[in-house]
Amino acid sequence: MALNTNNEERYLIRGGNELKGRVRVSGAKNSVLKLMAASLLTEEPCRISNVPDIGDVHIMGEVLRHLGARVRYSQGVLELDCGGLHTFQTPYSLVRRMRASIIVMGPLLARFGRAEVAMPGGCNIGSRKIDLHLGGLEQMGAEINIAHGNIETRASKLKGTRIFLNFPSVGATENLMMAAVGAEGVTYIENAAREPEIQDLANYLISMGASIEGAGTPSIVVEGGHPLHGTEYRVIGDRIEAGTFAIAAALSKGEVEVYDFDPQHLLMFLEAMRSIGVGIEEGDRSIKVTSSPHYRSAQIATLPYPGFPTDLQPQIMVLLSQAQGTSVLTENVFESRFMFVDELNRMGCDIRIDGHHAIIKGQSRLTGAEVYATDLRAGAALVLAGLAAEGETVVGDIYHIERGYERLEDKLTSLGAEIRKV
Ligand code: EPZ
Repeated sequence: MALNTNNEERYLIRGGNELKGRVRVSGAKNSVLKLMAASLLTEEPCRISNVPDIGDVHIMGEVLRHLGARVRYSQGVLELDCGGLHTFQTPYSLVRRMRASIIVMGPLLARFGRAEVAMPGGCNIGSRKIDLHLGGLEQMGAEINIAHGNIETRASKLKGTRIFLNFPSVGATENLMMAAVGAEGVTYIENAAREPEIQDLANYLISMGASIEGAGTPSIVVEGGHPLHGTEYRVIGDRIEAGTFAIAAALSKGEVEVYDFDPQHLLMFLEAMRSIGVGIEEGDRSIKVTSSPHYRSAQIATLPYPGFPTDLQPQIMVLLSQAQGTSVLTENVFESRFMFVDELNRMGCDIRIDGHHAIIKGQSRLTGAEVYATDLRAGAALVLAGLAAEGETVVGDIYHIERGYERLEDKLTSLGAEIRKV
């Protein structure tokens, strides 16, 4: 579990190459982190395959090891044994490196009746509150005490109840679903998030013996109290990585097949790509992306699933900068996910921010520049811009990107891009 903490590494990109060929997406980052946390619910060993070799997986592995679990990762397979946990505390030194660590709270509460997790800080795309997580746990009977930067939760016995989320939060839905499997009685989660990663987590829990209905719909029903056993499971393909490669292909004037994921998980995105003029052919487990000489401007708004995914907002912005006409991209999920636009404008984009809207002038001439990633998806967008720009682009702070993209430079090179890590 070598953790890449070298902050000096950068991508060197020379733009203009046409991308051709096939690329396999790795297992979904935003699912596997939760499956790892769910493994805390049983004393028996769990085995997860199709696990990407990315920073966040290694940090979550460190979190579980800190709690006392045995974690082994090799060739894309994770062996987890949470039989011998010896603490229920997750320190800020770990949480500050990955705010998704908060997802261990539900399973620890369900198993031990106690959990202590450091308050996650903000991040570069918004404050990222956790009030929906904590409110739901309180409704299930947990006592919450926040002090000294830590969240202490206790529950002698969690009780099933009906919880209404006032926003379909992915993390809150997942934390509450995992707490509910350890609660007495039935828990109803209304206005639940519907992302494919939620469904993947529910299927994982069901494979461990849990009783869950409705994952993927706004109403999830969990019947608690079933003893949970170990399991073997393969993570779904990463739909956001797939979308990122589709945009790379469209920008490069090439033709690329992206495979080993379910295109049904990207329907709104694929519709948006078609409306822009990108050729998209859907297979069972793949899409074939064909670029066009001209692209049309578009009005796109990010929304919770099945709406256009916020995690592809920075990337599609680069494609819209090449379309004919002015586009409007509205970010409805996070309050400040436009931080990276200044870096894009340094490469020749002409994007103006007006509140939650980005106004993107088309047909911008992109030129290579030295830029820095501010977060995972913004970093991916800068790489895409570098692939389309004239000349050389240097992307710094690529550790942000390597948290969520496995061997990005190798995969792009295999498609004909000129990119290397230095
Ligand atoms: C998950 O984050 C993903 N991360 C994010 O992907 C993704 O952008 C997001 O879901 C939305 O799809 C992981 O799965 C690890 P939310 P999460 O709770 O669970 C507000 C990436 O690039 N909110 O649905 O944190 C919150 O402030 C990352 O891979 C509350 O107000 O997302 C935000 O504005 C980025 N109170 C909105 O909801 C709460 O208690 C969406 O948050 C919880 C959330």
